Amino acid sequence: MLVTGSLGQIGSELTVALGERYGYGNVIASDIKKDSSGRLSNRCAFEILDVLSFNDYKEVVRKHGINRIYHLAAVLSAIAESDPQRAWNINMEGLNKTLEIARKQKCSIFFPSSIGVFGPTTPLDGTPQDTIMRPTSMYGVTKLSGELLCDYYHRRYGVDVRGARYPGIISNGMLPGGGTTDYAVEIFYAAVMKKKYTCFLSEDTYLDMMYMPDAIKAAIDLMEADAGKLVHRNSFNISAMHFTPGEITREIQKHLPGFVIKYQVDPVRQAIADSWPNYMDDSAARIEWGWDPEYDLEAMTADMLRALEERRSKGTLEPEQQA
Ligand code: SER
Repeated sequence: MLVTGSLGQIGSELTVALGERYGYGNVIASDIKKDSSGRLSNRCAFEILDVLSFNDYKEVVRKHGINRIYHLAAVLSAIAESDPQRAWNINMEGLNKTLEIARKQKCSIFFPSSIGVFGPTTPLDGTPQDTIMRPTSMYGVTKLSGELLCDYYHRRYGVDVRGARYPGIISNGMLPGGGTTDYAVEIFYAAVMKKKYTCFLSEDTYLDMMYMPDAIKAAIDLMEADAGKLVHRNSFNISAMHFTPGEITREIQKHLPGFVIKYQVDPVRQAIADSWPNYMDDSAARIEWGWDPEYDLEAMTADMLRALEERRSKGTLEPEQQA
């Protein structure tokens, strides 16, 4: 199996989880940049790959006898707003090439979709699996178009492509690469390092969130699910917890009473967050492939703070930035 974008927030942890589960000899990591820390290339084969270079991509898939692609290479929402053309190109053309290669070389695909597929006219509380989808961010436009293209390839060519609509993902490894939900990661580093944080979303902005172990579990469980039981494919709502910046602050303060938060709203990211669900209804994922997350706000907060405190005591707390 091949992971594109394997040095990103999800890729850096999913690649390791796949290696542990299926054997590192069965996993090929790839990214547009070099794995300079060796975190993946020390464990499994690593290819420098620009997913927009069709021939190179095809050759990597052929050379390694790939039959499953976790296509994670993409631009997140806030970065996409700063260069919409580039986001369209990477997110759509990268997926288009992945689907074409998968069709020709008979690969299955995992496609990470997002809460970004929804928009201001979507019901934002308990957002149904099948509902109004008129995203207003370029990121959302590419993720929704991507879902449609994936379903087209499944219907037209029988490509086994499955996707999950990820909420904001919180992790203590690689930082996210410029999304609207990033505050929920930054706040933990700030709490442990400086006991204070300035948040770019308002205190009462609800968003759906998930801890990384559950995000990894979703990718693995969905790809292992019995295809005959899937009514939906691209993509499934998956939900684990939802909270506001005010609520997560109070949860962190239970562990670090001196922690303080200030608000300095970024209008671009606030507008995106306001157009996204407060929480999704993920019953289709629960029924069709047994989705069952482990971490809620309380368990995630305790584990994040434990992990970051441990790194602080070893002097390795500086977060790893994506290039
Ligand atoms: N975390 C993503 C973002 O904020 C949402 O899928 O862009």
